[in-house]
Amino acid sequence: MVAARLGLGDSDKIMTQAGNLSADRPLRVGVVGVGVMGSNHARVFAGLPGTELVGVADPDQKQADFVARTLGCAAVKDIGGLLDLNVDAVTVAAPTHLHRDIALACIDRGVHVMVEKPIASSVEEGHEIIQAAQRAGVTLMVGHVERFNPAVEAIKDAIRNEDILSIGITRVGPFPPRMSNVGVVIDLAVHDIDLIRWFTDSDITEVQPQLSSAVAEREDIALLQFRTASGVLAHINTNWLTPFKARNVTVATRGKYVMGDLLTRQVTECFGFQPDGSYSMRHLSVGHAEPLRSELLAFLRAVRTGDAPAVTGAEGVASLEIATRCLATSTIAVAPAKRKGPRAVVG
Ligand SMILES: NC(=O)c1ccc[n+]([C@@H]2O[C@H](COP(=O)([O-])OP(=O)(O)OC[C@H]3O[C@@H](n4cnc5c(N)ncnc54)[C@H](O)[C@@H]3O)[C@@H](O)[C@H]2O)c1
Repeated sequence: MVAARLGLGDSDKIMTQAGNLSADRPLRVGVVGVGVMGSNHARVFAGLPGTELVGVADPDQKQADFVARTLGCAAVKDIGGLLDLNVDAVTVAAPTHLHRDIALACIDRGVHVMVEKPIASSVEEGHEIIQAAQRAGVTLMVGHVERFNPAVEAIKDAIRNEDILSIGITRVGPFPPRMSNVGVVIDLAVHDIDLIRWFTDSDITEVQPQLSSAVAEREDIALLQFRTASGVLAHINTNWLTPFKARNVTVATRGKYVMGDLLTRQVTECFGFQPDGSYSMRHLSVGHAEPLRSELLAFLRAVRTGDAPAVTGAEGVASLEIATRCLATSTIAVAPAKRKGPRAVVG
């Protein structure tokens, strides 16, 4: 469905090679880059049934050793060392500018890859990864983990078959402890661009970004407006200048108004609108599963079956392309008195 929308040919939808993966042998998995995100991938892999975490790779020897010792696997210094351990599948959670080279090295050896979001530093590099995976017949999935947040799943269920009119997403918080070389659009908004595309099952056709840099070199405040091919209006409010984390989604449809807090996982819908202004309200049931565990289970299921993964490379590139367009079509205003420290900007 999404593949058709993106105009992908049959070769994009090919079943990947489930290869010599017999159902009764554990899948041998590894993680490249075990910083904040990668160490979580390693932890979750280590606890999955039918899966053996064989190793982690990181040039930070101390960090690799720590994760390996904690989880009982090998520590190696780079992707070459990990591939030599005969892994079937790997998560790539090294810094984004390394995704392309590391993913290509895995694919070249016939190893299935889960690449953390964003898929790559550029749309072109993302396409390179997709094409290599197609040629090699290996599974490529992109780590848009928010799709597996039970609150997001509840919102998606609530708006299924509804006539969606508008979506608003707020994703704000303090500066990350270590600044990477990307701003809030590539780091944070790409999650929500993916959600807007997924909620509407439609592509984003128009972007109207407003960006500003109040403290960081790159944009640290972004107000992004979109229109999808299906006519839905959407906006994302994101920044690194809020003292607390907030992740909220609202969706207006003709028949409902759905509100979700992605952190507390409370999802509420208003419905049954009456001419006198009254309406009904109910809390929706939301699951408790860890999103990363659901994501990795989905990845390994795709590896075993050869079916298309839950988040394809093409979807990862499509979201990156919209984020890149936001950066290209807006100048980054510098806040009038550039401040030395974070100040609250709550949207
Ligand atoms: N899905 C999400 O919600 C989410 C959240 C955070 C980060 N991410 C993504 O995960 C990736 C990593 O982000 P992070 O916050 O964990 O960064 P991080 O800096 O905490 O970790 C990156 C790790 O990669 C290691 N590394 C550097 N060069 C390497 C190489 N050549 N080979 C192997 N490892 C190498 C570093 O030593 C470090 O330990 C980024 O692409 C980021 O966008 C995704």
